[in-house]
Amino acid sequence: MNPRTLPLLLLTLLLPLAARAAEDLVVADFEGESYGAWKVTGDAFGAAPAPGTLPGQMPVDGFNGKGLVNSFNKGDDATGSLTSPPFRIQRKYLAFLIGGGRNESRLTFQLWVDGKPVRSATGPNSQSGGSESLVQESWDVSEFDRRMAALRIVDDAQGGWGHLNVDHIVQTDRKPAGPRKDVTRTLKARRPYLQIPIKNGAPKRVLTLFVNGQRIVRNDVELAPGTPDWWAVMDIGAWKGKELVLQVDTLPVESQGLDLIYESSVPADQGPLYKEPLRGQIHFSPKRGWNNDPNGMVYYNGEYHLFFQHNPYGWGWGNMHWGHAVSRDLVHWKELGDVLLPDDFGPMFSGSAVVDWKNTSGLGKEGRPPMVLIYTAAGNPTVQCIASSTDGRNFTKYSGNPVLKQITDGNRDPKVMWHEPTQRWVMVLYVELPNRGHTIHFFTSPNLKDWTLASIADGLPKSNYLFECPDFFELPVDGTSDQRRWVLLGANSEYAIGTFDGTRFTPEQSRLPGHRGQGFYAPQTFSDIRAEDGRRIQIGWFQTETKGMSFNQSMTVPIELRLGSTASGPRMTFTPVRELEGLRARTFQADGRTLHAGDSNPFAKVRGDALELRADFEPGSAREVVFRVRGATVVYDVAKEELVVDGHKAPAPLREGRQAITIYADRTGLEVFASGGLTYVPKPFQPRAEDQSVEVDVKGGSAVFRTLRAYPLRSIWKGSR
Ligand code: FRU
Repeated sequence: MNPRTLPLLLLTLLLPLAARAAEDLVVADFEGESYGAWKVTGDAFGAAPAPGTLPGQMPVDGFNGKGLVNSFNKGDDATGSLTSPPFRIQRKYLAFLIGGGRNESRLTFQLWVDGKPVRSATGPNSQSGGSESLVQESWDVSEFDRRMAALRIVDDAQGGWGHLNVDHIVQTDRKPAGPRKDVTRTLKARRPYLQIPIKNGAPKRVLTLFVNGQRIVRNDVELAPGTPDWWAVMDIGAWKGKELVLQVDTLPVESQGLDLIYESSVPADQGPLYKEPLRGQIHFSPKRGWNNDPNGMVYYNGEYHLFFQHNPYGWGWGNMHWGHAVSRDLVHWKELGDVLLPDDFGPMFSGSAVVDWKNTSGLGKEGRPPMVLIYTAAGNPTVQCIASSTDGRNFTKYSGNPVLKQITDGNRDPKVMWHEPTQRWVMVLYVELPNRGHTIHFFTSPNLKDWTLASIADGLPKSNYLFECPDFFELPVDGTSDQRRWVLLGANSEYAIGTFDGTRFTPEQSRLPGHRGQGFYAPQTFSDIRAEDGRRIQIGWFQTETKGMSFNQSMTVPIELRLGSTASGPRMTFTPVRELEGLRARTFQADGRTLHAGDSNPFAKVRGDALELRADFEPGSAREVVFRVRGATVVYDVAKEELVVDGHKAPAPLREGRQAITIYADRTGLEVFASGGLTYVPKPFQPRAEDQSVEVDVKGGSAVFRTLRAYPLRSIWKGSR
């Protein structure tokens, strides 16, 4: 043999061997229809690998292929175990993906050798919030080379994060790069803001801020590993000059998320603020992040205050803060920073605000009555707390919090009012009782700090009463002050009408329908407007999804609530507040016109981004009166006395043979009012940007319009920052 070919021959012989030695061995990937030879006990693991997220679970990601072990089967309370058949250890490392709850004794993934557990791992989450993302981990198992072993996955935990997820168990000679844990970065606070890179849908990381070794706030952040979709803003103005420590619980090696965070003097925006393509122009929405319920609505020192459930660090729900905006006219809002941040009592859920005119709480200063916020801290236990301010800008949480202990898990959404006849405060609180279903608890207090249970309203026998976010107020019937009724309202805007003696609510009519549309929830009314003009004004959460934006959801226009008599008794009516008229940029009118089927469109020349349309008509021989605003149709079906708003039907009775319809149209939704306010139909809707038209059309006859007007509207954000 040619001596020079010998090394080549050896190489050809040995190469496949070397390659084989490095090849990974998959122990289990949970891709099959069953667990195969793995032994299952209990309920937690189900009969087969999970196809990803299970019902009621936050989205699970970071697993391999289609299936994984997910012990959330039947929820967090189920327990059980999963044991592998024996296998031989043949590589240096055992690598796996793991997620779910963190509990070193009850949620474990274990390696057993010689009848003993020799390695153990648990999930990453120990507090509410967190992430269902699996992370890479591995054990060095070289000391057990060639030995027989087995794996056991045990879920012996119940309650929050009482489950474990495992996938892609592999024997390998190459240690996989696991994520870095509890990575910190220290910076000196020189500027007022921190910019945090967000990628919508990225795995959530727990980002904690420490100042002087003290934990200030922790948030679950969809931290962008690279180029972000948008920048969340954290106000760090209060710690100027101090050293801040930012900590991320789990950071994949390749993620630049923590390094990308930077300080700024002015918040960064994705294009010009309030001019984004899907920014509602006549509806309030937060500058950045997510909003749900309006909170703490109160009139104080000449300003309307609108607080709201806010996630400053994500496009979806989470990290509940109270955002804050103020307005002098209910229409133009200025968003200020968040006032209530999650704390050791939990995230800041919904609640209300009052002006404590008599300083019963003692939280006033130098003759200035305090504004007091009453909110739910949704930790475990879930409790009611208060915070106060004497300038409407700076808020302090009360040192004696909580003011109301947990009754049952999930009790929430305190709405408080001053009850003049009994000279004390009344709180309505949503409480679910095991044997009575949804209830509203009534409490009273002399000082907003000490609360006593006064009564419980429910739908006995267990027939689910009004659900979460209650509101409670008194209104005159037909505006006559000697005929007053109390209204108790739930989050879906259904309501009960009755009387209230300061202790107990006695309904005359219960469960009346509220709004008749879609995407309207958790409305609240302003407290303390009575000092001005006594109107009861409501704003609801308008569920207008805005994909691709750095903000999501919005609020409805402000609506005045009244009680009006009908043949079946008093009923609530919805009227958009008169302040909205100030937004009219131009008026197009066709008052007094009779429109016949086939007539030309009286509003052919009208164009508007946001629009208001008003029509008061006698339907005459018409079968339908059709309005088309920015491509959305609002049809009045005369025979059925029914409105069809972008396909959604709602009853709209004629009143003395006439119908009056008001339509507000924006980039994100429609709000339609009819039948003297008895019918309110909110409806999220996204017009095509280029369609700014308005049309009126009569079908099957003719209708006489007393009023017929279209108003292009100005943006409420003009000049806003
Ligand atoms: C209603 C609600 C409230 C709760 C809040 C949390 O939308 O579920 O009951 O306080 O949202 O964001």
